[in-house]
Amino acid sequence: MQSTVIAPSILSANFARLGEEVDNVLKAGADWVHFDVMDNHYVPNLTIGPMVCEALRKHGVTAPIDVHLMVEPVDRIVPDFAKAGASLISFHPEASAHVHRTVQLIKSHGCQAGLVLNPATPIEVLDWVLEDLDMVLLMSVNPGFGGQSFIPSTLEKLRRVRQMIDRSGKPIRLEIDGGVKADNIAEIAAAGADTFVAGSAIFNASDYAEVIGSMKAAVSA
Ligand code: DX5
Ligand code: ZN
Repeated sequence: MQSTVIAPSILSANFARLGEEVDNVLKAGADWVHFDVMDNHYVPNLTIGPMVCEALRKHGVTAPIDVHLMVEPVDRIVPDFAKAGASLISFHPEASAHVHRTVQLIKSHGCQAGLVLNPATPIEVLDWVLEDLDMVLLMSVNPGFGGQSFIPSTLEKLRRVRQMIDRSGKPIRLEIDGGVKADNIAEIAAAGADTFVAGSAIFNASDYAEVIGSMKAAVSA
């Protein structure tokens, strides 16, 4: 099992003060920055691209930037994100014509690679690519928006993917994204996640340190 990572999703941050918001969550104990990229095509929403990632690096952000691509097609944008300072790049198999090729493309640009499974995507998609991945990201909401409720069947899916990762013997992270809160993170961790994305639960709170602290305490309890 990997160390616990809390990755606030900046989708719920105040975009008018993004640099400051990211500084504040990192100061409050966040480990990574989760960076949601939506294209109004693969998902029905439109957010931010490589320029904003680069701007955060120029602003002085040194923490890992965890880029979650909800875009189709994926491959063309990968080099731009690598150049912009992405640390990890994750994508949805439905948005890539050749999943194995996209994984290798991400790695060839010096980034870690993750595959994202939507709530209804079968875990068998991992069968022939798992050992090439640095991370599996399970969506616990349908992608496109922050502030949705955690879909309970994801807990069983987490348990099954945890077993696959353990059987592989590789240091692959298991990330969860969608509806993660201080009051459900303990059961999500018990089901096998080690990397936790939380958007609204953190950015809608008045005290970032308090909510990140209580999430970490709940995971380690
Ligand atoms: C949804 C995004 C999530 C989202 C999570 O498509 O991938 O990262 O921001 O937001 P919350 O934590 O509010 O569910
Ligand atoms: Zn995300």
